[in-house]
Amino acid sequence: MTEQKGKVFIITGGASGIGKETALKLAVQGATLVIADYNDTAAEQLVSELEASNVTAGAYKVDVSKGDEVKALIDWTVQKYGTLSGIFNNAGIGLVKPFLEMDPASYHRVIDVDQHSVYYGMYYAAKKMVELGVAGTIVNTASIYGTMAAVGSFNYNAAKAAVVMMTKSGALELAEHNIRVVAVAPGFINTPILGNDDSIKNHLGSLHMRGRIIQPEQVASVVAFLFSDAASAINGQTIPVDDGYLS
Ligand code: NAI
Repeated sequence: MTEQKGKVFIITGGASGIGKETALKLAVQGATLVIADYNDTAAEQLVSELEASNVTAGAYKVDVSKGDEVKALIDWTVQKYGTLSGIFNNAGIGLVKPFLEMDPASYHRVIDVDQHSVYYGMYYAAKKMVELGVAGTIVNTASIYGTMAAVGSFNYNAAKAAVVMMTKSGALELAEHNIRVVAVAPGFINTPILGNDDSIKNHLGSLHMRGRIIQPEQVASVVAFLFSDAASAINGQTIPVDDGYLS
């Protein structure tokens, strides 16, 4: 498949889980990829694997909660690969605490990493695409917790709800520049963010309609579709990938 040949995509949180699987899918489609992650060792490892399969890819260490670093990531990408076709604003963390223990540091950390990062990625990527005069696609990772409350997740609920609304608002404003903005809202996905306790993972999986945890590849295939021309009329929407959990 060469559907994405000549396209250049940045994937934040690309070294693990949903981001990594998305990189593998877009690589098969011929895209050039920038694996942008705080974990530079894992990002470089993935880039080596991609290069061994003749994929053009680069690793970039970034803390997405810092706007100047995200801007530098986008500048670096265009300098190195010549253009920018899209960004997957996907890096994220969880920090679960009861509300009465949700001190300002715990609140702000998740807002910075899960919400402000998405603004930075959208803003600097869109400005660059407009400057280059290219059409593009921005995909954000929201969550089922962007629309439903969860105990211990006040910070995460707030951040992911903002991502859902930033996706709509950004799509509205960027439409005149031929830039689409969409999001995915995963249910419970089998990645390191859920921890290593199988009994917890099995319980979370049991909440889905078909009673099993979702694999990151199942989210990645939806993200790859959203980046494709086949999804060219989908805009501003957050697509649930939750095996019916919110239905
Ligand atoms: P993961 O832990 O496998 O991957 C997250 C990646 O983000 C890691 O490689 C990590 O190094 C990177 N990262 C974390 N903070 C960063 C920072 N400040 N700067 C740069 N990179 C940073 O987890 P997963 O599940 O693949 O998470 C991806 C996204 O999916 C996150 O936004 C998460 O909130 C969201 N999500 C995950 C769900 C799940 O059940 N796994 C459910 C719903 C949403």
